[in-house]
Order: sequence, then C-alpha cells, then structure tokens
Amino acid sequence: MSRQSITRRDFVKQASATAAAGLSLSAASYGKILGANDRVRLGIIGPGARGQELMKDFVKVPNAEFVAAADIYARRHDEAKKIAPEIKAFNDHRKMLELKDLDAVIVATPLHCHARHFIDTLAVGKDLYCEKTMTWSVEEAENCLAAAKKSDRVIGVGQQHQSAGYFLDARKWIKDGLVGKVTSVESWMSRNTPRGKGQWVRPIPEDCNAQNVDWKAFLNGRPNRPFDAHKFINWRLYWEFSGGNVTENMVHQIGWIIGALDLGLPTAAYMSGGVFSEKDGREVPDTISVTLDYPNDLVVSWQSTFSNSRFGLGVRILGSDGTVEWLAGTTDMVSGRSLSGWYYSPEKANRPDGEAIKGESKSEDHYANFVECVRSRKEPNASVELGYRSAVAAHMANLSYRRRQRVTLETARQVAKQ
Ligand SMILES: NC(=O)c1ccc[n+]([C@@H]2O[C@H](COP(=O)([O-])OP(=O)(O)OC[C@H]3O[C@@H](n4cnc5c(N)ncnc54)[C@H](O)[C@@H]3O)[C@@H](O)[C@H]2O)c1
Repeated sequence: MSRQSITRRDFVKQASATAAAGLSLSAASYGKILGANDRVRLGIIGPGARGQELMKDFVKVPNAEFVAAADIYARRHDEAKKIAPEIKAFNDHRKMLELKDLDAVIVATPLHCHARHFIDTLAVGKDLYCEKTMTWSVEEAENCLAAAKKSDRVIGVGQQHQSAGYFLDARKWIKDGLVGKVTSVESWMSRNTPRGKGQWVRPIPEDCNAQNVDWKAFLNGRPNRPFDAHKFINWRLYWEFSGGNVTENMVHQIGWIIGALDLGLPTAAYMSGGVFSEKDGREVPDTISVTLDYPNDLVVSWQSTFSNSRFGLGVRILGSDGTVEWLAGTTDMVSGRSLSGWYYSPEKANRPDGEAIKGESKSEDHYANFVECVRSRKEPNASVELGYRSAVAAHMANLSYRRRQRVTLETARQVAKQ
C-alpha cells in the first residue's frame, strides 16, 4: 500500500471526524468584521520550536494577542504560557477551535498534520496562518486549495521571504523589464554541522514520554505503533511525517522564485541525491539536486548539501537583459568576502547602457501583514495560492526522488488520485 493511498483514506477519516465533532456546522458563524483598532485574537496549534518563534513575532504586532494554544505535548503548554501567560491551553485542537473569541489560528504542527489543521480551522470559520510547506502531499495541497476556494477566510502561509525587501525589489526589476527573457534560474542552500552532529537532530526532553504526549494524535492516521520519542521529536527525518529539505527549505526559495516571476505549476520535476553525509538512520536525503521544468522555456534548479556551507543560500535569475541575485551568507570565492544582499546586473549584450543596482527596499513585517489582512480582509503577501504552487513543486521533486524517475504534473496528479 502506497503512502499516498494511506493519505487519501486519512483525509476521508479526518473529514468525518471533523464533521462528527460538529466543527463544520459552525462554519463562518464566528467570523466577525474587525475594525481598524480592534484587537485580533490569535490561537496556535503546535507551539513547538517554530510555533514559539511565531508567538514571539506575533505578540510584537500592535493590537494582536494570543488567547489560546493547542498542543498534544504537555510541555508545550508551559512553554507557550511563558510567552503569552493569559492563554487557555488545550490538548485537542478541536476544543480550541470551539472558542468563539478567536479570530485567527496559526498552524505550526509537523508537516503531516498541516492539512488536517488547515481544513479544521476553515471549517469553523476562523482565519488561518499555516506554516510552510502548506501540505505533506499533492493530494492534500489540492484538498486544501479547494477548501480555501470555498471559504471567505483570510489565509496566509509561513513563507516570510515574500514580505522581504529582496522580494519587492526583484519583482520590480523584473516587472520594469530590466531582466528580459528568463530561461534559467539557479538556486541553492547549503549548511554544515560538526562531524557526528546530524543536521536537524534534536535532543529528547526527559518528560517526552507516552504519558505527556498524545501519540495517536501525532500519528494522525498513520499506522499505530508504540510511542517513539525519537520520531516524535525528530519527525523531520522520516517520510511519513516530513518532506525533508525540499519541504523545509527549497519551498521558501521556490516560493520566492514563483512570486518574483509569476510562475504557475511546474510541468515536470527531477530530483537526485541521497543520504550521503548524515548516516544516522534518517530517510530524507541530505544531498539534493532538483530541476523543475516550467512552461514557456524555463528551468529552475535547486541544490542542497548538509556537509558544506561555503556558499550559504542564493538565487540567481538569469535573464537575456540582466541578472537578479539574492544571496545570504554566500562567500566570494576569491576574496572570501561575504556577498549577502540582493543585486541587479545588466547584460551588456542587450543593455549596453544599463547600470548595476544594489537592492535597498525595506522588508515588510510578515506577521503584521497577516494581522492587518485579518482586519482589512485583503490577501496576505504569502497567499494560499502561493502556498499551493510551492507545495506542489516540492512534492513533485520528492516524488521524483522516491520513484527514481522524472515526474510530470499529470503523473503527480494521478498519484494524488490513487
Ligand atoms: N517559516 C519558517 O521559517 C519555518 C522555520 C522552522 C519550521 N517551520 C515549519 O514549522 C512547522 C513546525 O516545525 P517545528 O520545528 O516547530 O516542529 P516541532 O516538532 O518543534 O513543533 C511541532 C509542535 O506540534 C505539536 N504537535 C504535533 N502533532 C500535533 C497535533 N496533532 N495537534 C497539536 N499539536 C501537535 C508538537 O507537540 C510540537 O510542539 C513545520 O511545518 C516546519 O516546516 C517553518
């Protein structure tokens, strides 16, 4: 039985569980129009590592407050209360979603739970901020987009680079025609850790045991088995719960590229690589090379390694009239200087008088943008459509790696239906 088919049934099960809990009946009835000065009341599902970072970011937004948090691990209730002492804490997210005085819900659970929390949140008529990657599979991405289209809720995704100055400038340079025809985009993300310390591996807290964790809720429809603290904490390393570095990091960069160039879905993906440096029992590859074919003669590539960090993170949009670069932590090969920043360089062949530009636009606060959209009912900088397109690209790449063959969009959609 393929994982995809397990997921399909899970969805049906989850949908009926949600309906049984009466969540869908109350749809939209709680939504109310907020005035410019009304407080936005937030709840969070999964205040773990990223969730707590998000709480700290959202509490800084004027007129936003946390009123509730739901997590299946008791320890997280205490940690969340250190950031927002007044919150009500819940084990079951469905109980939190019953709260009437809640405007928007932030989903920061592991990847394999996103779709469930996404759909349950919309079903009760709350606005939604869902961490990236929006879903764990193509099928879930289609289901979440369909739910979003039926809903009038404000939905934002955790792809914060869409609010960055380097996004605003890159998009403007492209729109202004400084880049010309783009046939190729190169991107990469590389990291390193001391030998013997695997990237992403987290220590297991002493209180992480079957008494303090609702393990069945974590499994979220995956086959039942005895509690496994390592998998609960280090879910990122295993396909059942994760999409590896493609859904952890490529998704941010591919989303940025999709947004800058107004791309839709890839027509095909190919991914090679393997578990070459982190031989600790993980399933997801640490060394990756992805190519994504887009319509209109464009190839986007993304490479990643966990055993060399010299060139950090970067994107280069290569056009006939100019190049856009977004670089972070990249080192110049000759001088050793850091090249972080974003730049436009003209192609002398087609813009002989063009001048180089160093990007300087200020970033927008991604979290304040979401809160503001909850009030104004506008679309957040990182929209559900962007989340969907980025998720499908990431899942097509993983599907190609796991099948060891090039995967077209049609194949990915057929797999989603099986
Ligand atoms: N946007 C970013 O830059 C960024 C950065 C890091 C992580 N993330 C994303 O945030 C998400 C969470 O990552 P993390 O590192 O915080 O993971 P984590 O394991 O530290 O936190 C997940 C939390 O969810 C809880 N949880 C698990 N299943 C649950 C369920 N069914 N109901 C309620 N709570 C449940 C866990 O107990 C835990 O507290 C991932 O999707 C990750 O990709 C985004």
